[in-house]
Amino acid sequence: MPSSGISGKLVRRSRIVGTGSYVPEKILTNADLERMVDTSDAWITDRTGIKERRIADPGVPSSALAEKAARAAMADAHVTPEEIDALVVATVTPDRFFPSTSCTLQDKLGTKKAFCFDIAAACSGFVYGLEVARGFIGSGTTDTVLLIGVESLTKITDWTDRTTCVLFGDAAGAAVIRPNDGPEDTGILSVTLGSDGSMGDMLEMPGGGSLRPISQEVVDQRLQFLKMKGNEVFKVGVRGMEQACLDALRKAGHTIEDVDLFVPHQANLRMIEATQRRLRLPDEKVFVNIHKYGNTSSASVPLALDEARREGRVKAGSLVLLVAFGGGLTWGAAAIRF
Ligand code: ACO
Repeated sequence: MPSSGISGKLVRRSRIVGTGSYVPEKILTNADLERMVDTSDAWITDRTGIKERRIADPGVPSSALAEKAARAAMADAHVTPEEIDALVVATVTPDRFFPSTSCTLQDKLGTKKAFCFDIAAACSGFVYGLEVARGFIGSGTTDTVLLIGVESLTKITDWTDRTTCVLFGDAAGAAVIRPNDGPEDTGILSVTLGSDGSMGDMLEMPGGGSLRPISQEVVDQRLQFLKMKGNEVFKVGVRGMEQACLDALRKAGHTIEDVDLFVPHQANLRMIEATQRRLRLPDEKVFVNIHKYGNTSSASVPLALDEARREGRVKAGSLVLLVAFGGGLTWGAAAIRF
């Protein structure tokens, strides 16, 4: 799988100076799902590792979840909204098609001088955003980037389809990224990104866009909901994540033995374990929180990274390897020294 990332010399290096996250309070357990579709706690646990997921209330949009995560990240980074130069939101569940969710969020946060846009790279959105932030900072365009991965996947979930409705949840994760004046081998060391549009049908929301605008027919066929060929995504995903990890480490001048913590996209525990086996990483170096939240797409990696930091699993000097894989298809990995 071919991948790319910034390879030319950047004027400045970047680092993550703060993280934050937010999940809605309402919990939907596997037992709850047993009452909704023909499934069981045993099947969901065995096949996915998920025990429960969070659900945002009706009327609560992605920007509301993003606001809470963004405020937490800014507090952690000791930056004010006025200092944010660029506000980037990774999401496939925006409040509206337009304006962008980042513009809506700008108004909520008061990040007045920031320019704002969304990234649609599904589960890989946060890793894509890291490369965008690194590029802006590296070229001298901006000093401070606020990057948020947020999803309200339960709003595009078909609650009558047992093959998808057990998998997804709502969440937001955020990071503040700034220039790095520290030693050479610190900060965001490398990012690798890749896409393959020929496999776009594996994971899609078919209706509601310009291809199939909302109509009675679209609604009758339930095309406004997420569809996934899970089995096929699984196999491609494991191979893609392994390759992206090795590529990011090679670019950073490191090997898998140097990694202190692996923070993978939380799509399926079996996918995480298969990737971990291929990379020969011991359990204690792998961060897992899928049992609590399910797959939260572009929020998954920043939510996991923030939890890992708050649990003390990321120390000064830790080498952290992030990886994600999702709709598009898209994938990406990043090697970061904290
Ligand atoms: N409860 C009970 N049985 C179920 C359920 C359920 N919730 N869902 C499916 N089944 C049944 C199927 O009908 C099938 O039955 P059959 O053998 O009688 O036909 C059987 O279980 C096996 O189905 P598979 O689809 O082969 O199950 P699999 O082991 O592949 O697990 C899963 C499905 C969990 C979706 C898995 O394939 C997966 O996690 N895939 C990857 C998902 C992913 O990574 N997505 C990418 C990111 S998401 C994003 O970008 C938004």
